[in-house]
Amino acid sequence: MQPDATGLILSPSLLSCDFSRLGEELAALESAGLSWVHWDVMDGHFVPNITFGPGVIAKCRKNSGLFFDVHLMISSPDTYIKEFVDAGADLVCVHAEACTHLERTVSEITRMGAKPAVALNPHTPLAVVEYLLPQLFMVLIMSVNPGFGGQRFIPFSLGKIRALRRMIDGLDSKAIIQVDGGVTLENSRELLEAGATALVSGSAFFSNPPYAERHAAFKSACARN
Ligand code: DX5
Ligand code: ZN
Repeated sequence: MQPDATGLILSPSLLSCDFSRLGEELAALESAGLSWVHWDVMDGHFVPNITFGPGVIAKCRKNSGLFFDVHLMISSPDTYIKEFVDAGADLVCVHAEACTHLERTVSEITRMGAKPAVALNPHTPLAVVEYLLPQLFMVLIMSVNPGFGGQRFIPFSLGKIRALRRMIDGLDSKAIIQVDGGVTLENSRELLEAGATALVSGSAFFSNPPYAERHAAFKSACARN
């Protein structure tokens, strides 16, 4: 779960994998030396797309030692947190925009034994999470509007990551920053330098097997010269 020597935790998004071979894809990631995997849960309501739910995650949990980073793009996430933790989520990330009582939701995730994280849509100000930073494991900065893979990185996200880094460093918080959407080999290093630790990559990762080589390419893109 620790960042590698470059300071990077790469979390491949299964949204871009071959769903018909989900178990094999997870095994291939683990063999390629990845430690995290990103599950994009979509309900067709909070976002237009629909993917998978806790039943699929629970089946896959039995055969995988990866850290399950579960990104809930669903309305009313409170209703489902227990199901996702029971399914084997190591981290549960809820959208601030979907939670009326965000502190309560974050406390519930922690109480149930998973790492708590909050995602912010591109337009959502950082102030929404400011008071929660001491109790958060991670803040996810959405660098595209959620719902689909393969979108372009929204440029103002970079300044938002830098501002969040300053906010975290000025508080009693160890929260890490994750960036999700439009992450590529070309922009990864800049994102780490801005203060991110965890990068999600869907299309840029899965479109270029073998995964061990792709993982190595991300690491070398992030390494300082
Ligand atoms: C978007 C998802 C992302 C997405 C990333 O709603 O949260 O995780 O799969 O895909 P790429 O890397 O293709 O932008
Ligand atoms: Zn995601």
